[in-house]
Amino acid sequence: MKTLLLNPGPVTLTARVRQSLLQPDLCHRESEFYDLQDEARGRLLNVYRLDPRRWSAVLMTASGTGAVESMIASLVPRQGRLLIVQNGVYGERIAAMAKQYGIEHVPLVHDWMAAPDPAAIARCLDTDGPFTHVAIVHHETTTGRLNGLREIGALCGSRGVRLLIDAVSSFGAEAIDFDEAHIDAVAATANKCLHGVPGASFVIAAREAIERGTSRAYYFDLARLARMQAARNTPFTPSVHAYYALVEALREFEDEGGVRARHARYAALAEQVRSGLASRGIASVLPPEQSSVVLRSYDLPPGVAYEPLHDALKARGFVIYAGQGDLSKQLFRISTMGDIHAPDIDRLLLAFDELMR
Ligand SMILES: Cc1ncc(COP(=O)(O)O)c(C=O)c1O
Repeated sequence: MKTLLLNPGPVTLTARVRQSLLQPDLCHRESEFYDLQDEARGRLLNVYRLDPRRWSAVLMTASGTGAVESMIASLVPRQGRLLIVQNGVYGERIAAMAKQYGIEHVPLVHDWMAAPDPAAIARCLDTDGPFTHVAIVHHETTTGRLNGLREIGALCGSRGVRLLIDAVSSFGAEAIDFDEAHIDAVAATANKCLHGVPGASFVIAAREAIERGTSRAYYFDLARLARMQAARNTPFTPSVHAYYALVEALREFEDEGGVRARHARYAALAEQVRSGLASRGIASVLPPEQSSVVLRSYDLPPGVAYEPLHDALKARGFVIYAGQGDLSKQLFRISTMGDIHAPDIDRLLLAFDELMR
């Protein structure tokens, strides 16, 4: 029995992406590798149809956290100040990074269940400033909440502040308006909505933001990575196979219709899960209009702990995901990224029927 991953990455691979891992061994100092790197960088910009004269896609061998760390450590200028909007684990992680790199920052802490409060953000920008940047998680995977970028981007735009976005679990499936949201950079990874394998991540940054930035990190120095990649070079040994998979995943993504098609596909699957569980008495934690299409949180049924639910579903071929921290006692999460289709969700719902009998 094939096990389907309903956790938020790594994802269940398509046969096409899996097959791409079997391409020839490649030395990263040969032209074939630089062709691969160039194709990945070009296709990443093309996901949101970005102009390569303004934007640079910078690859790195790391998980999504590495890309976020590179963005935060490299793009806040030496004298810059960062406002960090927190409403979950990943916003808190950005604050931990800022602290570790000695970046002057103010965390704006929200309850994990709450949406970012634009009035509080405006107040903070106006009274605790001046800030150069606001950092925010687009899809806060802790709860499945999609944090709206437009309104916060407008608050930034009117004050000359730029946005740094953790789009690790939204890039490729949720709309991102790079200009309207006054974005300096987004950080993301190959192995979530793009359907690659873990090991490759990237930052898409405005070229002028890279120039304004500061090199605080060594391995994650975004400016050096950008410079060397632009010159068909690389400072370190990249995870070549993860890059093979990323490129194939991006080709497949384009063939399937890009961001719009992926959004529509995930939205249909997420709704199938939500309505199916609702009819079985299991409610979603957030209403659909506040949720991403990528992942949703559901209340654990009364008297049911996460572990036995997880184990029983795993025995039937589905890996679901626990809540983080104290939320593990309250909710479970289901993502529909990867090679997941409507008949798979039908089988998942039948598995819930078996368990609830
Ligand atoms: C929004 C967000 N940011 C960062 C990360 C960290 O990514 P990784 O585990 O690949 O380092 C995740 C992982 O799920 C995430 O969902």
